[in-house]
Amino acid sequence: MRTTVKYAGDQEEIRQISYIEKARKHVEALEEKLGRKPACCVTTFGCQMNARDSEKLTGILEQAGYVLTEEENADFVIFNTCTVRDNANQRVYGRLGHLNSLKKKNPHMKIALCGCMMQEKTVIEKIQKSYGFVDLIFGTHNIYKFAELLVQMFESDQMVIDIWEDTDQIVENLPIQRKYPFKSGINIMFGCNNFCSYCIVPYVRGRERSRNPEDIIREIRKLAEEGVVEVMLLGQNVNSYGKNLEKPMSFAQLLGEVEKIQGIKRIRFMTSHPKDLSDELIQVMKESKKICRHLHLPLQSGSTRILQAMNRRYTKEQYLALAEKIRKEIPDIAITTDIIVGFPGEEPGDVDETIDVVKKVQYDNAFTFIYSKRTGTPAAAMENQVPQEIVKEGFDRLLKVVQDTARQRVSLLEGQVQEALVEEVNEQEEGLVTGRLSNNTIVHFPGDAGLIGEIVPVYLEKCQGFYYIGKRWEP
Ligand code: 5AD
Ligand code: SF4
Repeated sequence: MRTTVKYAGDQEEIRQISYIEKARKHVEALEEKLGRKPACCVTTFGCQMNARDSEKLTGILEQAGYVLTEEENADFVIFNTCTVRDNANQRVYGRLGHLNSLKKKNPHMKIALCGCMMQEKTVIEKIQKSYGFVDLIFGTHNIYKFAELLVQMFESDQMVIDIWEDTDQIVENLPIQRKYPFKSGINIMFGCNNFCSYCIVPYVRGRERSRNPEDIIREIRKLAEEGVVEVMLLGQNVNSYGKNLEKPMSFAQLLGEVEKIQGIKRIRFMTSHPKDLSDELIQVMKESKKICRHLHLPLQSGSTRILQAMNRRYTKEQYLALAEKIRKEIPDIAITTDIIVGFPGEEPGDVDETIDVVKKVQYDNAFTFIYSKRTGTPAAAMENQVPQEIVKEGFDRLLKVVQDTARQRVSLLEGQVQEALVEEVNEQEEGLVTGRLSNNTIVHFPGDAGLIGEIVPVYLEKCQGFYYIGKRWEP
């Protein structure tokens, strides 16, 4: 079935920009009352998609006249939430308690919540019941309406709540405030259609929608003009990019277009689903001068039986064959992964299968998660939930193997010279900067703030577990 994405178009952009102006009037009035510029604090939980959404929120807040602060004791505080695992939700509730005490001391303070967690009915009920001091709540589908919602918040003395079930709209061209001047995430698609049985994302982020390639390319060209050298193309499942566009286009083809953009020196992307990773993509990566030597390829489990219950639609053998093919074509690539331990029905033998995959694939890094029951997902209704102590035992066993293999893989570059994009001044040790290699490994080496945003050759002197200590290479 083909679903066509409706572009809300210029009309909606114009409307939202007029709301930014209206919000500005409210912020100016507050500035007069306070005798200083009102400050805002945007806190992000969760993934890269949320980080990008937070840049959109920040862009609008800055245009509305707020100054940005990291301090939670600000005049406007927004939590951009995540709900992929329950501990993310618990952290939000904990932090909200703290905000309540701050708000009592600063009656002008406004508190907003948005993001994935807000798409859950039970969460909204709980906030209405127990966190009545929150001023504004919205979800993942109407973030482009943030300026309009801000105005509603200023003009209402009640909690403003606007949650949509889903959307088929994409609004382009609203202001964005980037966190880094030299690198940026770019949404290429929204939502997910995979319905892995443990995952809440398809319910809170809606159905898969790809942005038009022209809009993506235009956005990246503009970023390049502004000095961005590294882009990260973002989507829950980038390998199925473009399938639902009116003029279908593959992800590999999109990468080919991004590669042509002058000024962009590095291209990354997140996340790939193994079932959709094409030979075409492997070839494009192999031949590319710009696509980084890193692939995040979530495994979730190495047991075919569990993979089937997870609705992942590949077997252990298919995953291994894919990883082998990638390694053969691009030997210097780093492969990283996500693994869940404790999915309903998982037995120690299944964890052994996962460990076997970790040993065979030799991941550079693996994010290991304890299964978290998410209400509304098929897995939450499964009867054979695994007792905590068994989950813990499997998790510890897996973690040890993951760390051992990652340490070995990461150390393979010792003694080599590699290019690093300098991202920041090292906060722990004076005189050092921190850079990232094409394969995503971190290197610390002597340098100063003037190097930030530069790509420089670095001699990788010593591997310290999961990162390097190096020095600038000047032949
Ligand atoms: N419990 C634990 N981990 C989960 N993930 C997604 N849903 C859950 C869940 N219910 C993990 C997956 C995914 C990553 C982003 O989060 O490994 O790849
Ligand atoms: Fe969740 Fe699976 Fe979609 Fe990833 S691919 S967001 S794990 S449903």
